[in-house]
Amino acid sequence: MLWVLKCCMFLGVLPTFVSSLDFVYHNTHAVESFLREINANFPSITYLHSIGKSVEGRDLWVIVIGKYPKMHTVGIPEFKYVANMHGDEVVGREILLHLVEYLVTNYKTDPVISRLINNTRIHILPSMNPDGFEASNRDCLFSGGRYNKNNYDLNRNFPDAFGTDAVSIQLETRAVMDWIKQETFVLSANFHGGAVVASYPYDNANATTNGISPDDDVFIHLAKLYAKNHATMHQGVICDSTSRFSNGITNGYTWYAVKGGMQDYNYIYGQCLEITIELSCCKYPNQTTLAQYWNENKVSLIEYMKQVHMGM
Ligand SMILES: *[C@@H]1O[C@H](CO)[C@@H](O)[C@H](O)[C@H]1NC(C)=O
Ligand SMILES: *[C@@H]1O[C@H](CO)[C@@H](O)[C@H](O)[C@H]1NC(C)=O
Ligand SMILES: *[C@@H]1O[C@H](CO)[C@@H](O)[C@H](O)[C@H]1NC(C)=O
Ligand SMILES: [Zn+2]
Repeated sequence: MLWVLKCCMFLGVLPTFVSSLDFVYHNTHAVESFLREINANFPSITYLHSIGKSVEGRDLWVIVIGKYPKMHTVGIPEFKYVANMHGDEVVGREILLHLVEYLVTNYKTDPVISRLINNTRIHILPSMNPDGFEASNRDCLFSGGRYNKNNYDLNRNFPDAFGTDAVSIQLETRAVMDWIKQETFVLSANFHGGAVVASYPYDNANATTNGISPDDDVFIHLAKLYAKNHATMHQGVICDSTSRFSNGITNGYTWYAVKGGMQDYNYIYGQCLEITIELSCCKYPNQTTLAQYWNENKVSLIEYMKQVHMGM
């Protein structure tokens, strides 16, 4: 309790932030309450806003953490993490909430975190598909909650430079596209489940690219960095439906082609380097394992954010 008092008095706010986030699944309402509580207790370094609504009208909450959380500041790069675009892939959603808590409660006590928050504007969207989350049954494999309410796979719903098929862009996708247009993101990751691997662009190809982007070396570096700092990913984890990934990384297209994916969109249309992190063999694991997932990924999450300062 003492450290909580110390931290909060230091920030000049009432020491009301005493509850710490449990390792259980949080529904839409609980995610909202948690983010509001964080924002209320750490108002100088957080900014909470909704970037749009889902088909069923749920807000797509983004919490921004930074020294100047409300606006872009020259010299401070924009970074983002996005989870749960497949509503039934839920580990990322929970570990991002734990990351939010970890960052704000370590500000001014941990020099590494303080420097990161002072020098980076960190945007976190814990759920891009809240409707899908609410519709999921707690299944390890596929569940209908993967899709949005209109039955669209949001990771096949972005404009694709490699194909010309018209897709009906969904509200959730449009919100993220507008967000990408509005902020000058330079580095990003999005979190999935069903495998354990760091996958990098491209996810799709044409006859000349074969899935390899002009920044292939940078993407390989980023994917390796995430995998290397993860407890097991770098060893090449084999799930039921996957073979061993060397170093725990793969080119997206080499694994399987994805048309209309978010990471290619970020890179081609948003000039933002994004990779896709698959966190768990089981898409919706027993919540008794959530603490373990957080511990496995914590160092990777921090080290990956620091890369925004590595001269990119
Ligand atoms: C972060 O910024 C705060 C507020 O300006 C300052 O007091 C603190 O020394 C900075 N910390 C680091 C590690 O840069
Ligand atoms: C293949 O895709 C790349 C990247 O979008 C593009 O620059 C190139 O013009 C495309 N080539 C063909 C033959 O369509
Ligand atoms: C989760 O694991 C706990 C402890 O092993 C067990 O008691 C519980 O029944 C499990 N829940 C589900 C939904 O499988
Ligand atoms: Zn997925």
